Amino acid sequence: MQAVQSYIKKNQKRFLNELLDLLRIPSVSADPKYKKDVLKTAKAVADHLKKAGAKKVEVCKTAGYPIVYGEKLIDKNLPTVLVYGHYDVQPPDPLELWDSPPFEPVIKKTKGHPKGAIFARGACDDKGQVFMHIKAFEAMMAEDSLPCNVKFMIEGEEEVGSENLGIFCKANKKRLACDVVLVSDTSIIANNVPSVTTGLRGLSYVEVEVTGANRDLHSGVYGGAVANPINILAKMIASMHDKNGRISIPGFYDDVERVSKKERTKMNEAPFSLTKYKRDLKIKDVEGEKGYTTLERTSIRPTLDVNGIWGGYIGEGAKTVLPSKAFAKISMRLVPNQDPDKITNLFSRHFKSIAPDSVKVEVRPHHGGHAAVTPTDTPEYKAAEMALKKTFKKEVIPQRSGGSIPIVALFEKVLGVKSILMGFGLDSDDIHSPNEHYGVFNYYRGIETIPYFYQYYTELKK
Ligand code: BES
Ligand code: MN
Ligand code: MN
Repeated sequence: MQAVQSYIKKNQKRFLNELLDLLRIPSVSADPKYKKDVLKTAKAVADHLKKAGAKKVEVCKTAGYPIVYGEKLIDKNLPTVLVYGHYDVQPPDPLELWDSPPFEPVIKKTKGHPKGAIFARGACDDKGQVFMHIKAFEAMMAEDSLPCNVKFMIEGEEEVGSENLGIFCKANKKRLACDVVLVSDTSIIANNVPSVTTGLRGLSYVEVEVTGANRDLHSGVYGGAVANPINILAKMIASMHDKNGRISIPGFYDDVERVSKKERTKMNEAPFSLTKYKRDLKIKDVEGEKGYTTLERTSIRPTLDVNGIWGGYIGEGAKTVLPSKAFAKISMRLVPNQDPDKITNLFSRHFKSIAPDSVKVEVRPHHGGHAAVTPTDTPEYKAAEMALKKTFKKEVIPQRSGGSIPIVALFEKVLGVKSILMGFGLDSDDIHSPNEHYGVFNYYRGIETIPYFYQYYTELKK
């Protein structure tokens, strides 16, 4: 292990520069105008894997963006770790809010990152974190110290729902056979408070369309007599939470996992300062479901949020118009035992039932996924805990996250294995936002920690 760690130290600068090059390719999966660049990124990831020592490296075609696969099998009697991550990124919009261009990475000092952070779209989510795995693997290979078998599966459609990865997994069960999936696509509590993510929320995502009259109308001539779909949509959305912050869709909470008092108490012992939280977000107060703390609201409780709403005139100046249509994109974060399809149906039925006769409504489901939980009494959890403890020299805290990686539940269903969510980001890294960044400290700490995970996991599986 000493040799692996000194190899990492010696090559730090190059590891950083190689990541910067990868971040220069705009691999935005949601927008077809970036298609060439997404494909170029897949090829770059494959080349890095090859150079690091992976065998059977392949850029696997799918109906959408390719999945990069590679492996190094050393002994079939040793355990196999499947590393999963994604090379696609979120759109960089709104561009004008970036302090430096999203695909021209720069390293700058910023709050919480005394060693500086890499500012670029995908720096933390997830190219930076995927690259830690490739570099850790390179180091273990270079020093002839890989303790077990490893497979890599890096996809290009995580940010758009991973639909083709689901199909790929079902079709490649043998090739993907493994003992555990290792994912770095989440965060730690703080740079001096290491944690392992033990839960992810599920997701149901819909788009709604409310139509009033068959065309836009003069808001003076018709206003007051014909339904305004924007007014109505706003009212319908407002009615979806009651005064206690609970979601008012009938049946929405039926399957919600009940978390014991004991577990909730434990959960709330994790280091968290509401004052700091509010200060950081420049808000006077938080909001949410009555009876639950902020940590609980963002982990064990489901949500309903409007992600975007539009319609009518939004150009310069004033235009007096009674719009014909209004739209919204709505996401519901789900917790264990809630079924995304069932929730989508409940939403759809409810949304239609509360619409007045003056409008027509349509609900279009998008992607979704189940929540996931990671048990803490397994060799893989222990290995992650030991690895983080080794490099951070601090106690490791299990914490459920509010985010979603829908494919994790599918890994369990299709491949029959649990995932370990050992991410190294911070919640304040502004993923999906302007000025996304990833700490240089976090990047290096990830590369140093991963080889320990392999080592401890292999030992514990003996
Ligand atoms: N890496 C994130 C998920 C995440 C972020 C988990 C932070 C825990 C902490 C992932 O890339 C993501 O953005 N997922 C989407 C869902 C997906 C279906 C678009 C999400 O959570 O909104
Ligand atoms: Mn991600
Ligand atoms: Mn993401």
